[in-house]
Amino acid sequence: MKKPIALETISDNTVFRKGDVFVLFGELFGRGYATGLLDQARKAGMQIVGITVGRRDENNSLRPLTNEELAEAEARLGGTIINVPLMAGFDLDAPEGGPTATDMLAGLTLESWEREKLDWDYIEKCQAVATERFTTALAKVMSILDGMIPAGRNVFFAHTMAGGIPKAKVFLVVANRIYKGTGARHMSSQALIDSDMGKLILRNFDEVSANTFRHLIDASAAIRERVEAEGGQVRYTAYGYHGTGILIGGEYRWQTYTNYTQGYAKMRLEGIAEDAWAKGIKASVYNCPEIRTNSSDVFTGIELPLIPLLLALKKENGGKWADEQWQACEALLADGHTLDDVMSKISSLQASDVMVPFYDFSAWPMPNSQSQADLTIGTSNEITAMHRDSKVMISDLLSALVVEATGRLIFGASSEPRGPVQWLNHDVVARCLNASRECAESTQRLQVA
Ligand SMILES: NC(=O)c1ccc[n+]([C@@H]2O[C@H](COP(=O)([O-])OP(=O)(O)OC[C@H]3O[C@@H](n4cnc5c(N)ncnc54)[C@H](O)[C@@H]3O)[C@@H](O)[C@H]2O)c1
Repeated sequence: MKKPIALETISDNTVFRKGDVFVLFGELFGRGYATGLLDQARKAGMQIVGITVGRRDENNSLRPLTNEELAEAEARLGGTIINVPLMAGFDLDAPEGGPTATDMLAGLTLESWEREKLDWDYIEKCQAVATERFTTALAKVMSILDGMIPAGRNVFFAHTMAGGIPKAKVFLVVANRIYKGTGARHMSSQALIDSDMGKLILRNFDEVSANTFRHLIDASAAIRERVEAEGGQVRYTAYGYHGTGILIGGEYRWQTYTNYTQGYAKMRLEGIAEDAWAKGIKASVYNCPEIRTNSSDVFTGIELPLIPLLLALKKENGGKWADEQWQACEALLADGHTLDDVMSKISSLQASDVMVPFYDFSAWPMPNSQSQADLTIGTSNEITAMHRDSKVMISDLLSALVVEATGRLIFGASSEPRGPVQWLNHDVVARCLNASRECAESTQRLQVA
């Protein structure tokens, strides 16, 4: 991608209807992006099908969900889960009796990790074992799914998988310092990716966050051909991240969270959609705004570009409802603090000489620096401290709104997708939120009249 291609229009669903099948490819967590898309699928009356990544037992073997876990997960999803474990990544796989990649990292210490070399031939064997395990399980999932799709139905596959952080103590310490450390605790993200440990982690991110999309598209080829032969349509979507256009100094401008180590995997994900699209398959990656979820909470400061969504709500002709969001956010601040104080902290960060060089699309994902990490993490900590309760934050309220809007936008755009990679910037997110509230308010007015 040479420059971000924005999704500019808010479209309505014209394809998916009652009885069509929505397949969530990843597990559902309460705050995750997938909840927005699922809401739309439910509203359209679609049949919901999910998968599980499975669970590891005490010996690290992958197992399906127990009956109790399955019932809980199906209740959360509001659909049927195909109970065949689809954990991606090779961090806990190995040839029979051999050590896993995570075992190999267990010997590394905080003093040694930067210079320790890994046995790449052996890691490739672990990766091959994991790929075989994943694709075999996926073939099983697809044959079960095939039986769940009646003739004449349309199918929507929503990929949400992202991850791949190995549970190795040394990595968790390093990650904590990269994403949360300031001053003497700062650590360079470049040092991580220059090390063998970092290279292993990047490979695992590729496996989980990108290659799973290709496996999904490949393994569902027979379903796709059948559905299309019966007159139905098939769509694939995936959530990307590659920075977001937000209001900076009164104009929408591209910016990014730094350091987004998973960025290489996200660019690979874009490439997979482009390859599929070139073959006539409607697979689209939607690059989404920064929000706080179970997965993104590791990145301190991820919420800084989210808070200016409030400015976008006003700029995009926000009415009474947009004002209420401002008031609701202000009410979350402790006495003596205002939203204007929060906004001015964020705008001085964005305008600072420290941050400006990081807003370079072509250089993405840039490594962190001491001054950039100090400023990002420091500002985030200061804004957190301005809240009445650090468990009820402005970023929680705004994350939920972004999840709702992206669900509508992606679901609507999927009827006639425009291309393999598009960005959902704050302008279209704000327009979508304002439009849906305006619509609700005028319906209410009509009912009252
Ligand atoms: N949170 C953000 O700021 C943000 C921004 C843009 C895009 N996204 C993307 O949105 C998608 C959903 O993430 P989210 O932030 O809503 O968080 P989430 O925690 O709700 O979702 C993460 C998903 O990844 C799956 N997953 C994790 N490890 C896995 C593994 N080893 N194998 C298979 N699946 C695995 C989980 O089952 C879950 O479905 C991801 O692709 C993420 O990169 C997030």
